[in-house]
Amino acid sequence: MCGIVGYLGNKNTKEILLSGLKELEYRGYDSAGIAVLQDGEFSNYKAVGKLVNLEEKTKNFITDKFAIGIGHTRWATHGKPTELNAHPHLGESSYVVHNGIIENYAELKQELQKDGIKFLSQTDTEVIVHQFEKNLLASGDEFEAFSKTISELEGAYATLIVTKSLPDTIFFAKHGSPMLVGVNDENEKFFASSDSPLIGLAKEVNYFEDGDYGYVTKGELVIFDKDGNKSKPNFSQLSTDKLSAQKDGYRFFMEKEIYEQSDVIADTLLGRLSDEEIMFDEIDKNLFNGINEIKLCACGTSYHSALSASYLFERYSKIRCSVEIASEFRYRSPIMSKDTLFVVISQSGETADTLETLKMAKKAGLRTLVICNVDNSSMVRLADACILTRAGIEKGVASTKAFATQVTVFWMLSLYVAKLRNSLSRDELKHQIHLLREIPVATIVSDDMHERIKRLSKRYLHGHGFFFIGRDIFFPLALEGALKLKEISYLHAEGYPSGEMKHGPIALADPELFTIALLPEHLLYEKSKSNVEELSARDSTICAISSKEFDKADDFIKINSSKDYMLEFFEMMIAVQLLSLEISIRLGNDVDMPRNLAKSVTVE
Ligand code: F6R
Repeated sequence: MCGIVGYLGNKNTKEILLSGLKELEYRGYDSAGIAVLQDGEFSNYKAVGKLVNLEEKTKNFITDKFAIGIGHTRWATHGKPTELNAHPHLGESSYVVHNGIIENYAELKQELQKDGIKFLSQTDTEVIVHQFEKNLLASGDEFEAFSKTISELEGAYATLIVTKSLPDTIFFAKHGSPMLVGVNDENEKFFASSDSPLIGLAKEVNYFEDGDYGYVTKGELVIFDKDGNKSKPNFSQLSTDKLSAQKDGYRFFMEKEIYEQSDVIADTLLGRLSDEEIMFDEIDKNLFNGINEIKLCACGTSYHSALSASYLFERYSKIRCSVEIASEFRYRSPIMSKDTLFVVISQSGETADTLETLKMAKKAGLRTLVICNVDNSSMVRLADACILTRAGIEKGVASTKAFATQVTVFWMLSLYVAKLRNSLSRDELKHQIHLLREIPVATIVSDDMHERIKRLSKRYLHGHGFFFIGRDIFFPLALEGALKLKEISYLHAEGYPSGEMKHGPIALADPELFTIALLPEHLLYEKSKSNVEELSARDSTICAISSKEFDKADDFIKINSSKDYMLEFFEMMIAVQLLSLEISIRLGNDVDMPRNLAKSVTVE
């Protein structure tokens, strides 16, 4: 997820841009760049990888007088992480940076190419700068050209443009992606995607609304609203605490990351869906030639996403699938046959146990694939093929958005394999792709649900244990719900298949045993309901999560009624994450850094 910065003023522009980008590192990125207009000349630097590479490239670049500059950290979506694809993008004499997605970029690009414009990158962003210059040529007026360009863009964006003919002006527009501007008494202007880069520099800030656009000069900040009316900036004081600024007003990173899931899943899907097929440009279809089994191997939350995947692979791709806990697999002399695709799943790409199993599979000559969130991590470098989950940096130790994006990738991959193996009809495939497009909406956190969970969490702070129960793919979700609760509340919780309770654990049932029952309307509803009734009859305290009212429940968390069990899966995922969060907060625990846990477990 990209980050934007901009600066207009007399101070050290290069340093202000680079340190602003550093503050945005937490958003995740794989390349970065800056463009500075000083003394009527543009200087532009880009580098792939970490910001130190950009710092190295700019070490002899001096900015010591009035200048305007823009900078960007890019998380690759359209096109690979290369210097050419990194922002800022150049036209003839203007530069642009952009966050978000220009949905109609292909049409705009086609038109521009017909006019003889040459494109250097594979990005959607580059159309903005060429469209701006085309409009400028026609109107001769920079602001008119900018306003027209903005009106021609469809999608979500926050963008900044600088152009040589106006060396004291930065144009801005925001629609759907965050951006703010800061000012101070020295007539400096600062832009950023979130407020942490502006702390200590700007005196007050204006958070742009969707549809806002305009420009800044030394003496002016001119804002127009979405209807084209001039509007006054709505200034507020800036927080002085960088950490809380990075949390964007949420109490904990984990809470922020739960709320981010809708957006990051949209990123995960980006460019990978057409109406009839799933596209993973990063993998070669031959990877699946002659493969009769998929073996998934991971730890912790990633193991739960692997378990979820096994239901999807067998149901949709009709391929045998087995799932392994990495720390077990590596010491149990497993049989590895060459017609198995070995898939490791890891948020960090560094987990020692999982990495070791990947090495074992490679040594045994198996084809390997990694589903990972961190590009260039050890697993990504080692595996034959890689699919990145695009969740952005996950700071909370308890994993949330990494899990959500892993399951999204697996749902897509099961359909990708289904197409290769002809195991789903064309109509069913189309229907599934249609459902995939609905996950970003299904994962928007509703205020009502959050409020309800906040209130009922006070009843779940004690007891002798929690059972999260579910059937089919809701069983791994139950495991994940229990793991989340254990990690951050330190209460004992287990995930269990609903139908298995009667084979032992039901002996524990009493009012102090809390059962969190996952009851999807579209998958084995009646069967799961009877399992919960058995527990309710034995006086266990039941909290049901479902779209259908359930009269045997002591507490009820209602999710939206949706078309398919997988959409229910994602909604219930949010519910169990929020439940753990709110219980942990009430218990006064450190949600983001729970005791005894580390984000990346690089030891055995
Ligand atoms: C749980 C959690 C851990 C990790 C596990 C594997 O919230 O974060 O269980 O899932 O340590 O880590 P990765 O996915 O980085 O391999």
